[in-house]
Amino acid sequence: MASIKDVAAQAGVSVATVSRVLNSHPSVSPDARARVLAAVEALGYRPNAVARSLRTDQTRTLGLVISDVLNPYFTALARSVEEEARALGYSVIIGNADEKPEQQDHHVRTLLDRRIDGLLVSPADGESALLLDVARTGTPMVFVDRWIPGLDVPVVRADGHHAIQDLVSHLHGLGHRRLAIIAGPAATTTGNERVEAFREAMRAHGLALPDAYIGQGDFQADSGRRATEYFLSLPEPPEIVFAADNLMALGALDAIRARGLRVPEDIGIAAFDDIPWFLHTGPPITAIAQPTGDLGRAAVRALVDIVEGRPPQSVTLPASLVVRSSCGERTSTPGATSE
Ligand code: HPA
Repeated sequence: MASIKDVAAQAGVSVATVSRVLNSHPSVSPDARARVLAAVEALGYRPNAVARSLRTDQTRTLGLVISDVLNPYFTALARSVEEEARALGYSVIIGNADEKPEQQDHHVRTLLDRRIDGLLVSPADGESALLLDVARTGTPMVFVDRWIPGLDVPVVRADGHHAIQDLVSHLHGLGHRRLAIIAGPAATTTGNERVEAFREAMRAHGLALPDAYIGQGDFQADSGRRATEYFLSLPEPPEIVFAADNLMALGALDAIRARGLRVPEDIGIAAFDDIPWFLHTGPPITAIAQPTGDLGRAAVRALVDIVEGRPPQSVTLPASLVVRSSCGERTSTPGATSE
């Protein structure tokens, strides 16, 4: 395998000049640069990433710790993070917390041991002593989707407030009055925000939201199933079940079907998060779509800004309502919106 010395010999320059070219140092003549690049190409020289990281103290690697890799929302987010990082010259190592704070901490420690340049996290819990430490020690970090309140860390997220208002207006307009929600865990910011925005929207429309119509879920399908079974056992079941994430919506659909009921004739379903298979659920599911690709890209840019010494920005993007036929009357079916 060719070494940096071979490249220097072939190009007729010093090893230091080759190194400057490879590190995009400006003080190299165009002629020397061209000869070095030609020699790199001719010899098939590959710079040693480990040696370079020791020299520059950078690994050009970012860590991404997501709460649940099996949740299609986070899968799409990871895809856009990796894409943007690659475009900016960084690799990404992904850790899946599986909604478990201790598994999250394990990944964070491992990534720090590997000397990543920065960390993107969607926290599994509302607090974390380890992430508090990471923030305090000044390791570049950005929260994406969920965040931990009180930490001085940029946050890149979608705001579902208006979209939830739009959803309740849409349901109200269709004549529905008994609306129930399956909430996400109270320890997560996304869990809290969605149920609070729903409460507010119900109040604004003069609709009652009894405690029995607030199911506690954990962002997993099984909890959506259980909450919906409970709603259906009530003397007066809701007309609509709104699930605060896509997996709980699929669980709700299972529970409704298991009872032999029809959507939307017997009960309607809406979901937070739009995923491609909501088009194929029969009927297509009305959903609140997040700009997942834009969120992933913005999160990487904010993190790379910190890593490269620029001031980072928190970013909030709006989510939007996509009306389909799972809550009643609808003539055409908009396509999938998630990337
Ligand atoms: N949990 C589950 N699904 C989600 C979340 C979340 O925090 N945010 C967007 N979709």
